[in-house]
Amino acid sequence: MEGTSREELREILDLADDVADGRLSNPLAGKTVCLAFFESSTRTAASFELAARRSGADVISLSESGSAIAKGESLVDTVVTLDSLGADAIVLRHPAAGAAKLASGYTDAALVNAGDGCGQHPTQALLDLYALSQSFDGFEDLVGRRAVIVGDVLHSRVARSVIPAFQRAGMEVALAAPRTLLPLETDAWDLPVLTSVDAALEWGADVLYMLRLQNERMTGDSPRIPSIAEYGAYYGVARRHLRRGVRVMHPGPVNRGVEISGDVVLDEASLIPNQVAAGVAVRSAVLTLATGVAHEVAA
Ligand code: NCD
Repeated sequence: MEGTSREELREILDLADDVADGRLSNPLAGKTVCLAFFESSTRTAASFELAARRSGADVISLSESGSAIAKGESLVDTVVTLDSLGADAIVLRHPAAGAAKLASGYTDAALVNAGDGCGQHPTQALLDLYALSQSFDGFEDLVGRRAVIVGDVLHSRVARSVIPAFQRAGMEVALAAPRTLLPLETDAWDLPVLTSVDAALEWGADVLYMLRLQNERMTGDSPRIPSIAEYGAYYGVARRHLRRGVRVMHPGPVNRGVEISGDVVLDEASLIPNQVAAGVAVRSAVLTLATGVAHEVAA
């Protein structure tokens, strides 16, 4: 996401609109898309698969269980195998940051990062921008809007992609998190750091972007938060926080009652279903651009 320009963001979102409105028919016909998920996933895997199939691609889907990944086959060997099978695009999710970058050196296929450890999750950021543009009055209407990224920034690849994407779209971004859940590089990001959801609202947030508390990545002996209850009291969004016009987002899966209360998940302020729905069109657009088909269509 870091190297993606505002014009490129607009190109992807415009193409996603074309997909959503049915203006592109089977752009990936004759192409082979391989999904290689070395880490569990519901939304991302399902929407990449739907995106590829609805765009007419042949799809090969490998998950950790049921493939040679479970036998310990390495990332590089898996990618080389998929390359030999004639993959045009490989969609990769992996627990190590940098995995997608590494894998891209072993294949001529387009390598799409579907989440690499605590690294990046670019298509999540793109679908978030798409859902936000639809909820506001288009991409241009995002300029000057204020978004606060709340919670476990330290372990979040979503945050690392969403922050530059929102900034590139002209939004102002702040963080709200305990210091123990902020990465050391936070100071270099030069963003306001707030200490609660209440403070985020006082700052003038139009968007509260809630992150999942990633318990599975909290290894080591010393806990990073005093208790889940205390964390929730400061960094959880509840009905009392809902204000007219403020949107609540979450990439899922949600820890209900921790970073977001159950009734907020289903409230009309919540864009969570819109985020999931946006995933299919946006991922079709990404696959179409990544395999070079979009340029053929335009020509
Ligand atoms: C996220 C992920 O896996 O990075 N979820 C997703 O892709 N929708 C966020 C998370 O796991 O908290």
